[in-house]
Amino acid sequence: MFHWLEKHPFFFAVGVFVVIAFAGLIEILPNFAKASQPTVGTAPYSTLEIAGRQVYIKNSCNACHSQLIRPFKSETDRYGHYSLSGEYAYDRPFLWGSKRTGPDLMRVGNYRTTDWHENHMWDPQGVVPGSVMPAYRWMFTNLADVDTAYAEQVTVNAVFKVPYNKPIPMKDGSTKTVALADSLAGAHASALEEAKAIAADMKNQAVKDAVAAGQIPEIVALIAYMNSLK
Ligand code: HEC
Repeated sequence: MFHWLEKHPFFFAVGVFVVIAFAGLIEILPNFAKASQPTVGTAPYSTLEIAGRQVYIKNSCNACHSQLIRPFKSETDRYGHYSLSGEYAYDRPFLWGSKRTGPDLMRVGNYRTTDWHENHMWDPQGVVPGSVMPAYRWMFTNLADVDTAYAEQVTVNAVFKVPYNKPIPMKDGSTKTVALADSLAGAHASALEEAKAIAADMKNQAVKDAVAAGQIPEIVALIAYMNSLK
């Protein structure tokens, strides 16, 4: 057999390819299993959450934070269930990250609250003494870019058929329907509705006033995004 292979370089190359590709196959195949593709608990992002995601990307939070929980006890104890491939179905681009200066944020919505984020983004050291995370105070005055968020929502939906306007079963047994507005004005209105609910849990008076006046500071969009990570 080996003698024969040595005399037929083409088949030898095919054999080498199969042997090397096998390891990749072992890693990739489990992702096609049903258990890796949760149909429960993974809802598409709302306009406000996408605006917050864009704030997250703009400020390079992913340079210090991963969004990928590995299946080790130390990680599942700290963060919750390890990440499943299907949970990234609506992440474009994915924000796995390659470095953890800070903790993983994949399920941060389960154990941090709006007011915790508000205090932490304003003054990380005030909440976690010794933290090396920088403060992001400009987010309390900069306004979120809802136009671009809506543009992303519409274009991505046109290509990938995201299940907007459809009830998605959630982990607690309820269903969640994420609306895709049919106009820019509609997107602004629904983002503002969502922003009001978040601002109600915040203390910063300038942010509350801005939202009451129909504006959406970046911090509100960012917190909406943080809260959606579950
Ligand atoms: C220079 C690295 C760095 C950057 C950039 C950074 N962080 Fe952090 N972050 C940390 C560190 C370190 C901690 C842990 C200490 C703490 O809680 O402040 C942390 C903690 C957090 C936590 C708390 C997580 C938990 O489970 O306790 C959240 C939420 C968070 N960061 C969000 C953000 C967001 C949003 C951004 C971008 C706007 C950001 N971080 C940018 C380093 C960073």
